[in-house]
Amino acid sequence: MTDISVLLKEQRTFKPTQEFINQTNVKQWMDQNHIASLEELYEKASDWKWFWEKMSKEFIHFYQPYKKVVDWKPPYVKWFVGSKYNIVHDALDLHMQTDVQHKIAYIYESEPGETQKITYGELNGEVNKLANALKQLGVKKRDRVGIYLPMIPQLPIAMLACAKIGAIHSVVFSGFSALAFRGRMNDCQAKVIITCDAFYRRGKKIFLKEQTDTALEDTPSVKHAIVYRRTGDKIHWKSGRDIWWHDLVKNMPKICETEPLDANDPLFYLYTSGTTGKPKGIIHAHAGYALGAALTLHWVLDVKPTDIYWCAADIGWITGHSYIVYAPLILGITSVLYEGAPDFPLPDRWWSIIAKYNINILYTSPTAIRFFMQKGDEWPQKHDLSSLRLLGSVGEPINPEAWIWYYATIGKEKCPIMDTWWQTETGHFMISPLPISTLKPGSAVLPIPGVSADVYNEQGESIIEAGGNLVITHPWPGMLRGIYGDPARYQETYWDRYKNIYLAGDIARIDQERYFWIQGRADDVLSVSGHRIGNSEIESALVSYEAVAEAAIIGVPDPIKGESIIAYVILKNRVKSSPELIDILRQHVAHEIGKLARPDRIYFVRDVPKTRSGKIMRRVIRAKALGKEIGDISTLANPESIDEILKI
Ligand code: WTA
Repeated sequence: MTDISVLLKEQRTFKPTQEFINQTNVKQWMDQNHIASLEELYEKASDWKWFWEKMSKEFIHFYQPYKKVVDWKPPYVKWFVGSKYNIVHDALDLHMQTDVQHKIAYIYESEPGETQKITYGELNGEVNKLANALKQLGVKKRDRVGIYLPMIPQLPIAMLACAKIGAIHSVVFSGFSALAFRGRMNDCQAKVIITCDAFYRRGKKIFLKEQTDTALEDTPSVKHAIVYRRTGDKIHWKSGRDIWWHDLVKNMPKICETEPLDANDPLFYLYTSGTTGKPKGIIHAHAGYALGAALTLHWVLDVKPTDIYWCAADIGWITGHSYIVYAPLILGITSVLYEGAPDFPLPDRWWSIIAKYNINILYTSPTAIRFFMQKGDEWPQKHDLSSLRLLGSVGEPINPEAWIWYYATIGKEKCPIMDTWWQTETGHFMISPLPISTLKPGSAVLPIPGVSADVYNEQGESIIEAGGNLVITHPWPGMLRGIYGDPARYQETYWDRYKNIYLAGDIARIDQERYFWIQGRADDVLSVSGHRIGNSEIESALVSYEAVAEAAIIGVPDPIKGESIIAYVILKNRVKSSPELIDILRQHVAHEIGKLARPDRIYFVRDVPKTRSGKIMRRVIRAKALGKEIGDISTLANPESIDEILKI
């Protein structure tokens, strides 16, 4: 098979000012440790066992010291072997001995606009009460607890209560269907689940308890459902099984000992959003995960103790687990938690939240950025966004044009953008700039210190300036510990292609300066006239045209070319579609990246199928366009968008 072609040539670079660099966490650490340059930092950290051991001393605290830093028996890793640890010890317990106990952990804003400020001390009390209640219900170490809650403070409380007693949480995104929830609960054999009556989304009530009831019709392992009263709506009640959260915790003590666990005990199973196939229950463990998440938040998103930080993801996916719950709590940071939709009641809700709380750091996804681009600049322009200091992006390749828009319109050309590449499987950022790096729009820059990534061709040779398989060449702290109940799939998905090397499933290219450019998922690669092309480059070329907000590319069989390129294009607000625009866009792509990549057909649509975490489900588009069976769509966010895809 040929290597994947490289079409996109982005030349712009951005360097943070020296003044900015000097105040970053990473630069200050370098100064204290007499490290003079970025090159020296990467060089030192390439001794990765040394590096992670050193970092563990700064970020996590064991009950009992380890005997060995890392034990790597491919494909399984153990970190800090022999130690006793619990992530809640760092996330809450130790803060109770310092002033952080009085600090705000979460500023919560509901969709209808109520706000609540929760201190670390209050959070700790609520977690302890629920942890005691779970114990009373018979939940023991290693039992699974399913959590099906929206973005309300009870979601992190429930997760921490499980972790505290050594139970394993499995959070299912509240936007997923009853059947998706059921499937995951049966897979992990949950004993107890935690949900709520209803919640708000885009001004409407979503009756989550109703969905839970449907799910629990066929989940024999689930003995109890704990129900938090969020809206006060009347709900169906199954006595013996259902218990109100408030009744359960009413007389529970606010003190609960945290269970000292083996550092490698599982913390959670999280089912991957997965744009392809059946969801996998990814296993993460306590100590290594805690370390990787905390270090990356501190160094990459550069969050300071005085900052107001907002990761605008949902806790139902890994970004929220790592960067709304565990890492910010370990670092003792104040985070914003917002329940609702980004455009409710109007498309400036996010910008109003930033101005209202003087948010310093915003971490979001390319799909959200393109959504706001489509809505128009007038919405952010209504608000004072000057408190922002740094921006982040995750979830998909960020198209250079979306990067520039984010940089100029939201960051006012003073906030560096951290394009962080990572996965549910990796637990924390793997490839990302540091806030002192020179940035190139569309590039995730370099593997973070202590991580080693590469791009391999089919023969397993490192390649540069050509697309190939993105791999991670040695273990890292937040590395997954397996797929729950399916060791064969774990081996086959990640470890069979190249011996003992982690296969990420993405395609990427490394440029002359070793910067990484992610070109999309390997499953979505197109094969056109003997060339293999990543979808992301063609999509970026389309988005670089003024009128276009978002684009999705698929390949369909073509007797002459192998595959022909079909584009689904979402136009910006107020732009009208026309046959002329199709020609203009085809010419534009030819001009930007070459005739080879010119879409054969372009369709204008209002939306494309996406996962709840905002990833375009090209597999679904392809199936619909070819009139084939669509397959598992349990992770699909917007089923109505499928209707817009017509059979080709
Ligand atoms: C994609 C999300 C390009 C990639 C944390 C990866 C990205 C998948 C980036 C994992 C990025 C994530 N640039 N692509 N900065 N970040 N991806 O498991 O395809 O929901 O394999 O984890 O998202 O998605 P997941």
